[in-house]
Amino acid sequence: MLHKPFYDPEKTYEDNFKNGPFGDFADEKIFEQKGEPTYDFFGYKVYSPFGIPAGPLINGKFTEKALDKGFDIVVYKTVRTEEFPCHPWPNILSVQVDGDLTQELAKGKLIANHNFKEPLSITNSFGVPSRSPDFWQKDIASVVKNTRKGQIVVGGFQGTKKGDGNIDSYINDFCLAAKMLKDSGVKVMEVNLSCPNEGTENLLCFDTQRSVLVAKAIKKEIGNIPLIIKIAYFKDNDILKNFVKEIGQIVDGISAINTISSEIVDSEGNQALSGAGRSRSGVCGHSIKWAGLDMVKRLKDIREELNYKYTIIGVGGVMNTQDFIEYRKNGADFVMSATGAMWNLYLAQEIKNL
Ligand SMILES: Cc1cc2nc3c(=O)[nH]c(=O)nc-3n(C[C@H](O)[C@H](O)[C@H](O)COP(=O)(O)O)c2cc1C
Repeated sequence: MLHKPFYDPEKTYEDNFKNGPFGDFADEKIFEQKGEPTYDFFGYKVYSPFGIPAGPLINGKFTEKALDKGFDIVVYKTVRTEEFPCHPWPNILSVQVDGDLTQELAKGKLIANHNFKEPLSITNSFGVPSRSPDFWQKDIASVVKNTRKGQIVVGGFQGTKKGDGNIDSYINDFCLAAKMLKDSGVKVMEVNLSCPNEGTENLLCFDTQRSVLVAKAIKKEIGNIPLIIKIAYFKDNDILKNFVKEIGQIVDGISAINTISSEIVDSEGNQALSGAGRSRSGVCGHSIKWAGLDMVKRLKDIREELNYKYTIIGVGGVMNTQDFIEYRKNGADFVMSATGAMWNLYLAQEIKNL
């Protein structure tokens, strides 16, 4: 059953930011944890191996409410070193997909509308907006300070592509963001490598050499703070293997997957999300579960083969408790849900009751 979502797709980003979260995240009820936290998340004990990935928790208020409702590992939405605007409304639409959004299907067009129904898949198109560091450093510091026992806030960030082809300044921007997050007191960080790569039209994670440079530079900046990389779905297993071989001992965790891109149209076949660069948009929710599970299985096999130690965080299409169990069975050490959690505000509590 779909609840009233805590981020309201019918409202603008600014309205959500100012007046959200909505639905039952707006009430004052705080879930009471039982017993002691036993799961080890990069050296920090948490009550459950479950949480919300970068995205839906757009500021401190959203993040705190997620913690109140028992989501024990929460990622504050990806931040940047400078203020960055959000794409215009709508930012979230329902997409009609029959079954799995396979690679073949993603090459075609998907019809989107405002009818959010199960099995739910959505497209999200924000453009990774960010408040200025002046705002988010204080906002994050306050949430981190108030986090209760057995819960943790992860700081998500990315570097910004300037389009000037200067690779050093691109990499330095990642390091500056990491430093700013470190100064805000976050204990675990996640860098989004499924972001645009300077000087190319592709995602950074598909450039192994550059990803390694970025990861090494960040690690140098943050020292002992555990670093997770967030990656996209890799079609080719040899490319994935090589990527993991090169980066898997530099970083502490790998989170997979981000959204799968497809062309999004309305019922008349016109671009559904207006504006330049928005004909394609990332799809998440039910229809991408197959891809998240597939990546988790492969990351586990590769970890065994290479005798590496990175932690695997499974993301993509976790809509209910069964999906969570499936991810765990397939090798996810930790599991996260964005779309599922947005429309089921009690998913963490249901998982604790398993
Ligand atoms: C509203 C929304 C905003 C998102 N924003 C980000 C983001 O800022 N950074 C990021 O790495 N991923 C972002 N994502 C992607 C999610 O972290 C996740 O990888 C993806 O949605 C797949 O999980 P799901 O099927 O549970 O939604 C966002 C997802 C949603 C739904």
